[in-house]
Amino acid sequence: MAYVNTKQILEKANKEFYGVPALNINNLEFLHVIIKAAVAENSPAIIETSEGAIKYAGMGDIKKGTDLFVKMVKEFADSLSVPISLHLDHGKNFDIIMSCINSGYSSVMIDASAFPYEENLSKTAEICKIAHASGVSVEAELGKLVGIEDNVVVDEKEGSLVDPNEAKEFVDKTKVDFLAPAIGTSHGAFKFKGEAKLDFDRLKKVKELTEIPLVLHGASSVPVDIKELAESYGADFKGAKGVPSDILKESVKYGINKVNTDTDLRMAFVGGLRKYLKENPSEFDPRKYFKTSFELTEKVIRDRMKLLGSSNKA
Ligand code: G3H
Ligand code: 13P
Ligand code: ZN
Repeated sequence: MAYVNTKQILEKANKEFYGVPALNINNLEFLHVIIKAAVAENSPAIIETSEGAIKYAGMGDIKKGTDLFVKMVKEFADSLSVPISLHLDHGKNFDIIMSCINSGYSSVMIDASAFPYEENLSKTAEICKIAHASGVSVEAELGKLVGIEDNVVVDEKEGSLVDPNEAKEFVDKTKVDFLAPAIGTSHGAFKFKGEAKLDFDRLKKVKELTEIPLVLHGASSVPVDIKELAESYGADFKGAKGVPSDILKESVKYGINKVNTDTDLRMAFVGGLRKYLKENPSEFDPRKYFKTSFELTEKVIRDRMKLLGSSNKA
């Protein structure tokens, strides 16, 4: 099965009504955990890297970063029985998007959601043309998410939800493969001040009109047990709140197929690291002190695969 086009993973999910976690990585350790979880659950997995992750991994050199991620992911994926793909998350920089396509990413996201609709449409159409010619599938975003992207706060007042009619026109004109409609989520660990709520009517209309795989950004749940464990070992995650599991499950029912998850992995990993180091103060071997991080992060991913319905869908 191995390294596949993200389109292959998401078209099956769309047809069979389940969601697949798209999991952000910055380093080798998170890749190991995702591979382990996907194999254990017999689930497809989409691995994604932000522009920041590419710069980090390549020590500032974009080509080195994209080449390295493709090599790392392929090296593991090619010998597996579960389908794995590699996706660029929130591509905003043309050079980075091109580097991903040239290095062999399975798919790229062109995120021109900060621009007016017509500009978002023309930028997305241009990337679709280039990427599709190389067999790379494309995700775009309509509407604006509230939160933090690459350390820049997207102003809450600018946050606006997707217009379903625009979504239909956008998909028809750009030929984009997957669409991320803004329906009320935000990135990071502090998603809702009051009650968690998404605009499902809007989501249902977008699905009905476009029929393509849809993406939920900012989909971390901030599991209470992970938050409390990390806090019991010194973390300060006061006020952290994610998308509750039942809302996530409902969003899949109404057409979400790609479920973007970064914050939950980061919290589980750092919570495990805090616990391990506190309990083993003399340990300094990295092959040992990530043990609890691996266990907790793998569990978070496996729970998500079960919840979204991607387990046993490889
Ligand atoms: O959408 C944002 C992702 O969580 C990536 O975040 O820019 O800190 O790598 P990052
Ligand atoms: P979270 O911050 O909720 O994990 O969202 C991640 C994301 O949307 C990556 O694109
Ligand atoms: Zn996102």
